[in-house]
Amino acid sequence: MTTATQPRRPGSMNSTLIRDLQPHELPDIEMPACEVRPVLKGQKALVTGAGSGIGRGIAVALCAAGADVMVNYVGDEAAAGATVEEATHCGCTNRGRAIIHRADVSDEAQVTDMFRRIKDEFGTIDILVNNAGLQQDAPIEEMTLAQWSKVISVNLTGQFLCAREAIREFKRRGVRKDVSCAAGKIICISSVHEVIPWAGHVNYAASKGGVMLLMKSIAQEVAPWRIRVNSICPGAIRTPINRPAWETPAAYAELMKLIPYKRIGEVEDIARLAVWLASDEADYVTGASLFVDGGMTLYPGFEAGG
Ligand code: BGC
Repeated sequence: MTTATQPRRPGSMNSTLIRDLQPHELPDIEMPACEVRPVLKGQKALVTGAGSGIGRGIAVALCAAGADVMVNYVGDEAAAGATVEEATHCGCTNRGRAIIHRADVSDEAQVTDMFRRIKDEFGTIDILVNNAGLQQDAPIEEMTLAQWSKVISVNLTGQFLCAREAIREFKRRGVRKDVSCAAGKIICISSVHEVIPWAGHVNYAASKGGVMLLMKSIAQEVAPWRIRVNSICPGAIRTPINRPAWETPAAYAELMKLIPYKRIGEVEDIARLAVWLASDEADYVTGASLFVDGGMTLYPGFEAGG
């Protein structure tokens, strides 16, 4: 019997032993070097929750790809300012401009005001990135209604409110041929937990499960208007929201048991997909949940056995 760790003979007549490389023999992990192209030139974007983490990474990447970006935040104005700084001083010649706007995405009036402001500043909106989200974890028997409601209202209702305003504008304005062949693009930031159950996080998992069918139902409804709606489902990405899961070597080693690709995700892994999804290169993609998770949804517990 041959096991994965035993040497392999390529043919019975060949006496040379050829041994497969083992994962630990690969060189150190290197992040990909990717070209930045101005595929979003002239487009206007809103990224919610862009003061840190994935939202910041996406805002920076959209700007580098040529879009003007509104950086939404709710608490930390200095952090939102730092996003603008990073986005507009990235060294790319085609970069767009960036402004900050404070709004709680779960508050209807604040959301309508935010969309009024983006029209005042940029004239219109072409790309909405529904990113704002949070976790408030607790075992089910200890979870308060306040924790449940907070997570559902930001992660799910917030995505609904922003999508509704964006679609109103996309439908009013229609296609601007010189800018994009679609009338608008919405990218929902979901999670692997739209399909992976998560003990101790039932409010969060329920909100992301909700985002999945919110996204797909909107996508179905607005496709005839040439509005594309998709989700990015990140796995473990190195951001403040999951710091305890990667901060110490022991925690990182534990996390790797859940990731077949054996590295944590970085915000750039998500941001590159957001740029592509927002661009005309993804024109035939709508209603899709795209997982960016190093294989976290591949049932890593079944790597051996089953
Ligand atoms: C959560 C992170 C978690 C990851 C993988 C994300 O949606 O926000 O805290 O590390 O899923 O479990």
